[in-house]
Amino acid sequence: ENGVLVFDTTLLEKQPNLPTQFLWPHEDLAYAAEHELPDPPVDLKGFFNGDQEATVFAAAQIRTACLNHGFFQVVNHGVDASLVHAAHQHMDAFFKLPLSTKLRIKREQGSLCGYSGAHADRFSSKLPWKETLSFTYKHANEPTVLDVVNYIKSSLGKEFEGAGHVYQKYCEEMKNLSLAIMELLAIGLGVEQSHYRKFFEDGGSVMRGNNYPPCKQAGLTLGTGPHSDPNSLTILHQDEVGGLEIFADSKWQAITPRPDAFVVNIGDTLMALSNGRYKSCIHRAVVNKERVRRSLVFFVNPKEDKVVRPLRILFVEKSQESTQISHGWICNNSHKTTTEQIPLPSKTSS
Ligand code: SIN
Ligand code: FE2
Repeated sequence: ENGVLVFDTTLLEKQPNLPTQFLWPHEDLAYAAEHELPDPPVDLKGFFNGDQEATVFAAAQIRTACLNHGFFQVVNHGVDASLVHAAHQHMDAFFKLPLSTKLRIKREQGSLCGYSGAHADRFSSKLPWKETLSFTYKHANEPTVLDVVNYIKSSLGKEFEGAGHVYQKYCEEMKNLSLAIMELLAIGLGVEQSHYRKFFEDGGSVMRGNNYPPCKQAGLTLGTGPHSDPNSLTILHQDEVGGLEIFADSKWQAITPRPDAFVVNIGDTLMALSNGRYKSCIHRAVVNKERVRRSLVFFVNPKEDKVVRPLRILFVEKSQESTQISHGWICNNSHKTTTEQIPLPSKTSS
């Protein structure tokens, strides 16, 4: 129907042989991650407490990660662990519903909201070994879904009202966290601290729960095929199973799951806004042989009419840039470093 295939993933798990739609080409599978991305997580505590030194340190760490590959983990992010837990619990309850119930909220083609069983999408002609529940948060394209609580309740029934409230709160927290990270991303480029957050304050977002059933032949399929994110910033919480990998330094590297951390990554739009400085990097999710894996993903977008050129300061020659950095703050995270040393942009607006 509409070219969208729906598989009952609980039945899929029991299949001795993978249906051919899930068999991925060898070149997509050949290089399983042997490494974990070694970067330590970025501690946001000092930034939230207004500590300048800690803020510069965090911004420098984020800058390095984003110049290289665009992925980093944040801890002490201020989001309550019980909220994250509740969001996972409600996704768990949802994905365990019978397929016929999940299909009451089926995602139609062209929509950003609803349930999808495995379906081929823009990433590949092959099917991902997963199912998803997505909805929008303050997204102009889906005005009927502006109220998360109502959307969940009206499509799934009153017993999901609690889930609706949890997702509403989760989205609010993710949005706030994304704006805080926008400030650190701006500091890291030496532009005005509020420069990037301004594009996103009134932008729409999408939240998605991913459910990856176990797969006995995990090495032949993928949960999410290799892609870069088309949105601006993504904030992801993965459970302890793990499976998220990024392609950096010419190899696949696993992102170690940390229950207390969010994985943040740069999307294509922010890469453009930073004149290519911050990288939107290819990533994928592999499936586990034994265990179901879950991730909660929040995609941040700018408001649709905010299409602009990157700041002119970001067009400086690479040679000039390195001088600026070595005389500035980035190479020196010692106690002497203060935000005053961060090169401030000239008043260019685009
Ligand atoms: C994605 O990049 O779309 C999903 C990644 C994940 O589930 O870890
Ligand atoms: Fe992604």
